[in-house]
Amino acid sequence: MTPGDFDFIRNLVRQRSGLVLSAEKQYLVESRLLPVVRKRGLGTLAELVRMLQLGGAATLETTVVEAMTTNESFFFRDKLPFEYFSNLIMPALLKARARERRIRIWCTAAATGQEPYSLAMALLDMKAELAGWRVEILATDISNEALGKARAGLYTQFEVQRGLPIQKLVAHFAQLGEVWQIAPEIRSMVTYRYFNLLEDFTSFGVFDVIFCRNVLIYFDQATKTNVLNRLARVVTNDGYLLLGAAETVVGLTTAFRPMPEQRGIYIPGEPGAAILRFATAS
Ligand SMILES: C[S@@+](CC[C@H](N)C(=O)[O-])C[C@H]1O[C@@H](n2cnc3c(N)ncnc32)[C@H](O)[C@@H]1O
Repeated sequence: MTPGDFDFIRNLVRQRSGLVLSAEKQYLVESRLLPVVRKRGLGTLAELVRMLQLGGAATLETTVVEAMTTNESFFFRDKLPFEYFSNLIMPALLKARARERRIRIWCTAAATGQEPYSLAMALLDMKAELAGWRVEILATDISNEALGKARAGLYTQFEVQRGLPIQKLVAHFAQLGEVWQIAPEIRSMVTYRYFNLLEDFTSFGVFDVIFCRNVLIYFDQATKTNVLNRLARVVTNDGYLLLGAAETVVGLTTAFRPMPEQRGIYIPGEPGAAILRFATAS
């Protein structure tokens, strides 16, 4: 791939998705795009770039952007966020939403579904407390391929061995030959939608809990700030944002602040609000 073609792809991907491909990612770009070249019946990467440069190839652009996404995920990733969810966040929301009995959760970069399904499994553990409640999980991603896998709820042996406690595997999955399928009860708790975080999301309404994990790391500073500021507008005043282990709001925005002593949880509002929040929930 020529340096010019590489730059063209980098710019296209950044503009369309926010994903930053550094100069040393040329090999990655080539290895991810060669299957696209073959599928489209094209001869070379250069031909693919010429087609994109001609314009009017919206579907091809989407395919190229999708090919550059990293969809790696696993059940109960990093454990702690899910412990916080079950032991701190949900008890606090059960008190705070006792009147409306409705909780809305958004997984903004849901990839192949392990994150929203982990939340759904955690919610099933609270079935008794949640009787009569409406809990929605919206799961979105920019990769149609990842969303297809998430919707099917089919995972390999390797995938179910990563992070999923054996009791949960036995309770919520059925073995279908070589793969495992998540139970319809769990699948029906999650609504999947294709969505690009660079686009306006105010039409989704407001959420009590937003998981935006392991996606900001791929964006530049300005895009991180922009996404965080817009997320702050769709989280309830007493809601929560959860980021990945390598992500933070610090230095990017003041619209969220870290929850004292709870790594990875961020809240909108004034200093002190967080402490009060969990104090009243216990
Ligand atoms: C590494 S996965 C993270 C999956 C999950 N949140 C986790 O922590 O395990 C990152 C996901 O972000 C998605 N993504 C990248 N850019 C995006 C964008 N602009 N809008 C929405 N999703 C995006 C990718 O398609 C990919 O599935």
